[in-house]
Amino acid sequence: FASIKLLTSGNVFIGAKIFSVTSQRNYKVAVVGASGGIGQPLSLLLKLNSLVSHLALHDIAPITPGVAVDLSHINTPCRVTSHKGPEQLAEAIRCASVVVIPAGIPRKPGMSRDDLFKTNAGLIRDIAKAVARNCPQAILAIVTNPVNSTVPVAAEILRIEGAYDGRRVMGVTTLDVVRSCTFIGELNGVDPTLVSVPVIGGHSGSTIIPLFSQSSPIPNVCSLADIRALTTRVQEAGSEVVQAKAGGGSATLSMAFAAAKFTSSVLRALSGEKNIVECAYVASGLCAPAFFANPVLLGQYGVERNLGFNCISPFETEILRNAMPELLKNIQTGYEFVYRRN
Ligand code: NAI
Repeated sequence: FASIKLLTSGNVFIGAKIFSVTSQRNYKVAVVGASGGIGQPLSLLLKLNSLVSHLALHDIAPITPGVAVDLSHINTPCRVTSHKGPEQLAEAIRCASVVVIPAGIPRKPGMSRDDLFKTNAGLIRDIAKAVARNCPQAILAIVTNPVNSTVPVAAEILRIEGAYDGRRVMGVTTLDVVRSCTFIGELNGVDPTLVSVPVIGGHSGSTIIPLFSQSSPIPNVCSLADIRALTTRVQEAGSEVVQAKAGGGSATLSMAFAAAKFTSSVLRALSGEKNIVECAYVASGLCAPAFFANPVLLGQYGVERNLGFNCISPFETEILRNAMPELLKNIQTGYEFVYRRN
């Protein structure tokens, strides 16, 4: 057998044996929205992750039991269970260490992430309530857009239910980092898996702020106009996919990769591995918005330390300042939804 490196798990297959860099590999992960465009490839990648011993797939779609049977035929040790409809959500998430949520409607051409808000905020509210009542210790990884608003909705519902722990609620912004690394890899002619770029702010349009001044390597561009164009490309990359799919949805495969990478990092940190850092949209005491994306050190309870950001360039300072009103508005939209409906 050739050696195959599984990027999502941090483990290495050699022949029929799996050598793990971590000691524990028995976590239950629930995917809520598992039958969707993101949910299916995400579940596939998680089925390959040796830290996951039980993958609980939840969705309202009739295909859900079929997705679970399909995945269950893959010869990895992880058990796969299927849970369909609101009445089976509780059993899907009970005792889960991580609940990943890609449930919801995606964008169509001409729609902004905010256009999704009403539908998606409602389902995030219901899922957060179920988490509070059935697995308050779980770490929530929220993929559902608009992340800038759905994360405050989940946090506030958990608070109302008496189950809020800011360390455990994270919006998944990994795709912004993945894209930034890919674009620098192309530009610099280097392996994109070796590139690192912190992305701060939020997860929509102008609130996505890639810090190219802190990337490694720094981009091979000469002018501020080039940096501006690269920044815009990252900010608009989601729309690039929406337009290319011409009504068929938004990013699914790259998002599944990003969410699997993020979940793997969360699990590795849970299992005691040190120095695991990911960018995520989390409760923040570092600046004016109550939620903000930046690098966080992951640990046994989710966010161990918010690493914040510093030494950003004058251009980055300018776009961050311009993004603040939008981010604050998005967070407020989340709060208003919770208190209008409860
Ligand atoms: P999709 O429509 O293909 O899949 C969504 C799935 O959620 C469907 O299977 C649907 O049946 C299920 N669902 C709907 N309501 C549910 C509920 N109450 N409980 C359980 N499952 C439910 O959509 P896709 O493309 O997978 O996108 C999902 C979400 O992810 C969208 O909100 C999209 O905007 C967001 N997204 C987030 C990104 C990020 O970077 N955070 C990137 C790309 C998309």
